[in-house]
Amino acid sequence: MEALDLLVRNTSEVLTLEGTHREPAEAALTSRPHACVGIRAGRIAYVGAEAELPQGSVGASTEVLDAKGGFVGPAFVDPHTHLVFAGERSAEFDLRNQGATYLEIAKAGGGIVSTVRATRAASEEELVRLALPRVQRLLAQGVTVAEVKSGYGLDVETELKMLRVVRRLNTMTPVELVPTLLCAHAIPAEYRERREDYVRLCIDEILPAVANESLARFCDVFVEDSAFTVDEARRILTAGRELGMQPRLHADQLTAFGAAELAAELGAATADHLEQVTDAGLRALAAANVTAVLVPTSTLFLRMRPYAPGRRIRDAGLNVALGTNVNPGSAMSENTALALGLACLENGLSAAEAYWAATRGAALSLGLQRQGRLAVGDAGDLVLFSCASFRHLPYHLGIGHARTVVKAGRVV
Ligand code: NIG
Repeated sequence: MEALDLLVRNTSEVLTLEGTHREPAEAALTSRPHACVGIRAGRIAYVGAEAELPQGSVGASTEVLDAKGGFVGPAFVDPHTHLVFAGERSAEFDLRNQGATYLEIAKAGGGIVSTVRATRAASEEELVRLALPRVQRLLAQGVTVAEVKSGYGLDVETELKMLRVVRRLNTMTPVELVPTLLCAHAIPAEYRERREDYVRLCIDEILPAVANESLARFCDVFVEDSAFTVDEARRILTAGRELGMQPRLHADQLTAFGAAELAAELGAATADHLEQVTDAGLRALAAANVTAVLVPTSTLFLRMRPYAPGRRIRDAGLNVALGTNVNPGSAMSENTALALGLACLENGLSAAEAYWAATRGAALSLGLQRQGRLAVGDAGDLVLFSCASFRHLPYHLGIGHARTVVKAGRVV
């Protein structure tokens, strides 16, 4: 056997996540006690007992990592972020803690459109400089793939600028960033009295310009009373799909608005948030095999109730993904560990379900069949954790335990 490039040994267990979301998560994580993991040419080449490694697996060129009795699992995939932006909204955080709501602040000219003002004014270089440490903080948590949305431009030029920033960031860190066009994040101030014109701008100009430069893999719409109607979202997402961008939706976050049903109708990749989802919405999502993306950090951060009904979502048979939703308004946090803890404490998931959601579930939501899993042939993206069990991650609330992060077979 050709020598491995990397061998991880001395683990408590290796979680390969070779199961499916249709089976109990404990089983789906597929624990291999005390196994070692070998990587060659950036891909998983071996998972199993060290004593059974084929001869010649370890050569002079093989880097050997000691897991020191910690567990090893696939690196995290963050399926929902807004990490490219300028400015900050700490004053809004303060206002909310004194009783103001997210919608009241938005109506008073704060919220998303205030970040739009700052992001329009920032240069591409400035946005890269601001976003880079956010990506690095995710990486330090063990995230090697993250979806990133635009949505703080709301005009052709700035939406393109944001997505070009994502493309540049992709060459600057080991984290693989998956771009999503979210031009339908809010009605920009200059279109407030003529929203149909903005919908037309999205469909006729922003979407084609983004497709022309192949800048986005997904198209997202914030479907909400205060943002876009179901009908507007249907038109934008259908146009996006015709240009090769698969739909994702901000669905039923602040009000039950029929967004889950729309996600099902369109066969969307994901319906994200779902704090207010109805039983009918859930049934529709399950029948259409849409992944539910939970982002509990924003529910906490906005002091909203209820949290998304993760237990019911999971029991309805949906694949569940879990993200940080890092953004300046509703979740100023790149903390994957906190998201895992909240998924258990507030969404009602078990530790195994939360770990699935933050790895394999999230990878599947992005169409990445070879990520979030450690089967032979999969991406060599894994984390050596400083704790012996995945159960420790949500339990040690908000504390990251990634000791060593490996991306495509290289320690990063
Ligand atoms: O996913 N809800 C809409 N979008 C973001 C918040 C963006 C912002 O407030 O800047 C979210 O929570």
